[in-house]
Amino acid sequence: MRRPVVVANWKMHKSVQDAERFLRRLLELAPQRPQVELVVCPSATALQAVGRVLAGTKIAWGAQSARPEPEGAFTGEVSLTQVIEHGVTHMICGHSERRALFGEDNRLIARKVEATLSAGLVPILCVGETLDQRRHGEAWSMVEEQLVVALHGVELEDPSRLVLAYEPVWAIGTGVAAQPDDAQDMAARLRRWLGERFGAGGGEVRIQYGGSVKPENARAFLGLADVDGALVGGASLDPDSFWKIAQGAVAGRQP
Ligand code: 13P
Repeated sequence: MRRPVVVANWKMHKSVQDAERFLRRLLELAPQRPQVELVVCPSATALQAVGRVLAGTKIAWGAQSARPEPEGAFTGEVSLTQVIEHGVTHMICGHSERRALFGEDNRLIARKVEATLSAGLVPILCVGETLDQRRHGEAWSMVEEQLVVALHGVELEDPSRLVLAYEPVWAIGTGVAAQPDDAQDMAARLRRWLGERFGAGGGEVRIQYGGSVKPENARAFLGLADVDGALVGGASLDPDSFWKIAQGAVAGRQP
């Protein structure tokens, strides 16, 4: 049984104080053993504080991005080694904002995935097409290319060590989510691809949907046969809203 995983991607939001306030509230809301795996990904500047609050709880924390090199001349960047110091267990790799705004290509993303796995962390690998690509019927070929390069050389012994996030670029931050049927169609293709690439275990990799997920639509996505969670941006900034989305994952699984 694939345990749903709901991830907060705060992007470039929240001071240390705001992050601590959010987590105190989330810990009030979330039971000791939530049925859903919860991961919070703050800015690098808040990682230490987040780690302090979440240590010993059932909520995990992750990095939004980090360089695969352990150290070096990369002004303004942080390395995977540096974020690991703050106890992260996950890292978002290949987010469309990193691809579009910071020029990350599939090869760099592959190195990040590889370094993340080698360090024993879980990469949350994001894939997704632009609106133009979808309109031209190229959504799957685009996503497949992202997968082929980013996972080149990866050997996956344990499917729980990888999370895949399908985030159509046109649905991110726009308020226009994908149609649940389209999300399911893509998730099913992803699962087939994973099964062919990694064998039976590949089919057990958890696949999230991301892009304008909100408490109001969470259940529609999280109840889909091949969608095992959500990667949430804007609606993850408020703890009550994030928790409602996580509850959607539980409700969506109920017959
Ligand atoms: P929104 O939920 O704000 O659309 O962002 C999605 C996203 O990019 C999560 O990584």
